[in-house]
Amino acid sequence: MKDMLAKAMAGKYAIGAFNILDYNSTKAVVKAAEEISAPVIIQTSAKTVIFWGSEPLISWVRELAGPSKVPIALHLDHCKDLNLIKECIDSGWTSVMIDASAKPFEENLALSRQVVNMARPKDVTVEAELGAIVGVEDDIHVKHQDAHLADPEQAIQFCLQVEPDCFAPAIGTAHGVYKGEPEIAYDRLEEIASKTGIPIALHGGTGLANEVFRQCIALGCAKVNISTQLKHTFIDEFVAYYNANSTEYNPLKVMGAQFDKLKEGIIEKIRLFGGAGKA
Ligand code: 13P
Repeated sequence: MKDMLAKAMAGKYAIGAFNILDYNSTKAVVKAAEEISAPVIIQTSAKTVIFWGSEPLISWVRELAGPSKVPIALHLDHCKDLNLIKECIDSGWTSVMIDASAKPFEENLALSRQVVNMARPKDVTVEAELGAIVGVEDDIHVKHQDAHLADPEQAIQFCLQVEPDCFAPAIGTAHGVYKGEPEIAYDRLEEIASKTGIPIALHGGTGLANEVFRQCIALGCAKVNISTQLKHTFIDEFVAYYNANSTEYNPLKVMGAQFDKLKEGIIEKIRLFGGAGKA
């Protein structure tokens, strides 16, 4: 993932990181990237890894991404559990995120550094978070009032000591569906990105306006996370297919409809982030 992000940062575009749910959605991410020659990140939440197990997940990704001509990374999203991080590193994930952002600064720093020490010898990329990104991601709930943005001075200290390959500072975006217009702290993003020089991960991608993406990417976001969009497409397409064909009971057709819609939405986002043709 590190190499993809370095190229994206230099080229002022971002790599789409899509949270997959099953084999079908994993295939949709891979086929979308292949169709428009884009590098892409397959992202798994900790819950998804626990639900399926790391072995089935890695075997789908190897089968789909192995023969692919486009660069594909496999990333573990927000993880607080060092044992699960280790399991993913040992199983073949190319990238992991340690999310110790709910801990006091010093503890977050120490845990994040521990993960860098664990991952670096295996050439696995590390993403770390500072500040609280609001909303619900996996089992991490952050109430709006508790949310705090990343402090630029702390961010610089954090990055100097942890040396993450990718940095996720809270800049005002939120996981889940936005209620109202998010206030993005562009000034902080610019200061953190320019002073640390580390590719920034933009969390909470679902529902952001195109202009917000453009501005964040121009200021240093090289990875954009999209999860809720895929969850909604997954369920909505199932319901839509059933409503239109309520006597059919043909699961393969339902999965076909889900695949098509997921792929369409992923392609649209990759194009928007500037990743098409960059493989
Ligand atoms: P959304 O669910 O808002 O797309 O956010 C995804 C994300 O940031 C995953 O870490």
